[in-house]
Amino acid sequence: MDSRHWHILGAGSIGSLFACLLDQAGVGCSLVLRPSDPALERGSLDILLREGSVTNRHNFALGSPASAAPIHQLLVCTKAYDLEESIASVLPRLAPDAVIVLLANGLGYQQRIAEQWPRFTVVSGSTTEGAFRATHHGQNREVQRAGRGITWFGASELGAPDWFSDWQEIDAHCVWTSDMDAVLWRKLAINCAINPLTALHHCLNGALAERHELALAVRELCVEIATVTEAAGHPEAATHLHTSVMEVIRATANNRSSMLQDISAGRPTEIDYLTGHLVATAERLHIATPRNRSLLNAVRELETSQTLGRNR
Ligand SMILES: NC(=O)c1ccc[n+]([C@@H]2O[C@H](COP(=O)([O-])OP(=O)(O)OC[C@H]3O[C@@H](n4cnc5c(N)ncnc54)[C@H](OP(=O)(O)O)[C@@H]3O)[C@@H](O)[C@H]2O)c1
Repeated sequence: MDSRHWHILGAGSIGSLFACLLDQAGVGCSLVLRPSDPALERGSLDILLREGSVTNRHNFALGSPASAAPIHQLLVCTKAYDLEESIASVLPRLAPDAVIVLLANGLGYQQRIAEQWPRFTVVSGSTTEGAFRATHHGQNREVQRAGRGITWFGASELGAPDWFSDWQEIDAHCVWTSDMDAVLWRKLAINCAINPLTALHHCLNGALAERHELALAVRELCVEIATVTEAAGHPEAATHLHTSVMEVIRATANNRSSMLQDISAGRPTEIDYLTGHLVATAERLHIATPRNRSLLNAVRELETSQTLGRNR
């Protein structure tokens, strides 16, 4: 297996999208599935990538945590709450020089993972690409590319590593940054102002601009979020936050946020890695964030009530 080979752990919407984009660019790529995934029996899997009226088929070799091939470059695209368990599952396959790139949303897990497995190079990523799984059954899986965005990668090293050239060849805008924390905080700040409100009010993003009481709530949230972001050492990520949030709300007016989709589907949300991280940082810095705290509690309560409902 060539050294320019990526293993994708978490072949859901975003993982499948990037697997297809790497494959399309001629960069070797295979998928690491859960041992229980029935697709493993076939050894390979087709993924159809749809964008507008264009559909392309990509075929991937499959592996599981028990496969023998060593992993040199691992892209992890699970939800934030699955990251640590999924990485732990593939530890026996990781080569001593392995690079682990984390592409989940939110903050709080990056440092923990780097500290937990210091022998590997852990790089953070963040993307504003949009994708969803159209079908997930049978021989084919389909992924719809819902919107193009920017994908950042970064670590404390100054320059981009050699492997980043793989990402410059794919049909997506990928950027290497030496200030990844600023990117992650900016995305977190925008997510905190939009996602919990849409999940709790079961509304499209656009309602946050159209409904007076929600627009006011966004404004008040932004004040708290900007204060914490700045105090956490990322003033650039706090600049003109409310204006940027309103721009995102208008540009994505017809979208259902990922948190709303998770709540609607009865899945856990990534709230602990978004508002949860913001509120924990605020507490550490002795900053009051009553509005964000109240949203955090409300989303957690909603998740708990859904879990209880399912277990009844
Ligand atoms: N989708 C988007 O448009 C988008 C955009 C920007 C950022 N993101 C972020 O990207 C991350 C992934 O989102 P997503 O929408 O791609 O989620 P998703 O469709 O649910 O994909 C996550 C995948 O990870 C798999 N997984 C979890 N634990 C695993 C394990 N131990 N071994 C192997 N596979 C495992 C899941 O398998 P199961 O289904 O079997 O659990 C699922 O296929 C999230 O943090 C999200 O916020 C998503």
